[in-house]
Amino acid sequence: MTRHFIDLSDAGGDAVAAMLGDALDRKAARAGWPKGKPDADAPLAGRVLAMIFEKNSTRTRVSFDMAMRQLGGSALVMESGSTQLGRGETVADTARVLSRMVDAIMIRTDDHAKIEELARHADVPVINGLTDLSHPCQIMADLLTIIERGHALPGLQLAWLGDGNNVLHSLVEAAGLMKFTIRVGGPAGYEPDGGFVERARAAGGEIRFTQDPREAVAGAQVVVTDCWVSMGQAGGEAQIAAMQPYQVNAALMQAAEPGALFMHCLPAHRGEEVTDEVIDGPNSVVWDEAENRIHAQKSVLRWVLGQL
Ligand code: CP
Ligand code: NVA
Repeated sequence: MTRHFIDLSDAGGDAVAAMLGDALDRKAARAGWPKGKPDADAPLAGRVLAMIFEKNSTRTRVSFDMAMRQLGGSALVMESGSTQLGRGETVADTARVLSRMVDAIMIRTDDHAKIEELARHADVPVINGLTDLSHPCQIMADLLTIIERGHALPGLQLAWLGDGNNVLHSLVEAAGLMKFTIRVGGPAGYEPDGGFVERARAAGGEIRFTQDPREAVAGAQVVVTDCWVSMGQAGGEAQIAAMQPYQVNAALMQAAEPGALFMHCLPAHRGEEVTDEVIDGPNSVVWDEAENRIHAQKSVLRWVLGQL
């Protein structure tokens, strides 16, 4: 059966752990090498990834391209607006055609139903490069970054500040699979999707909610935030106003565990969800987190193609 990576639960906890282990090993094995040099075993030699973008991207686009190069394969970009998909060719027909031409498809889309439709009709793996609902590849990189900093995932105390968005949904899913705690600090009306929360709790994750930002970060080893208004969200002034108390600034970081890591998937809106002092400060791991998109996704690519 074709393996897709639409959400972390497509893989499950054991496979996520295996991918993270593989990512750590492969990253260590090529330390100091030129960034585009293929890994010694070039495990995806001859393989091609098609990347469909219906929304802007810097990290996802570059990290998947570099991941394929390092695995010995290659990637091609399809900006949706310049493809027939952008003119109304169906998702199903696009899936059928690409399945004859490439070995895997990554898509970034506004509409989660579209990636599900693509996967239903594709004979090759489909990978979620962000939808309105979830961003699992980001969370693979985040978990890798947390482990690299010496934290075990089971029992980890993590705080999320701000909007209950796509990135939080995948983080909540990870809390269930890897058994950690998330305290979400955010305004009423901006909570994450209840389905993700219920499934994570049932799987053994602890998900708590508070409207007090200091209570959210108390005891946290990792403090995470994201933009207050996501791409494609209506948002507006009211949403930004509601988020103001949840800004991650130096005073709020003081209320977390000493040495707590600061994480953000980027792009950051400096002065909104995070201050310069925090994102540029000694506890910020955002650049490792961005680099780790490459390393984590190499293992996702190997997993969907049956190598892990
Ligand atoms: N974090 C992330 O997915 O970044 P891009 O939007 O730049 O791809
Ligand atoms: N929540 C953000 C993540 C960007 C990588 C968005 O969807 O715009």
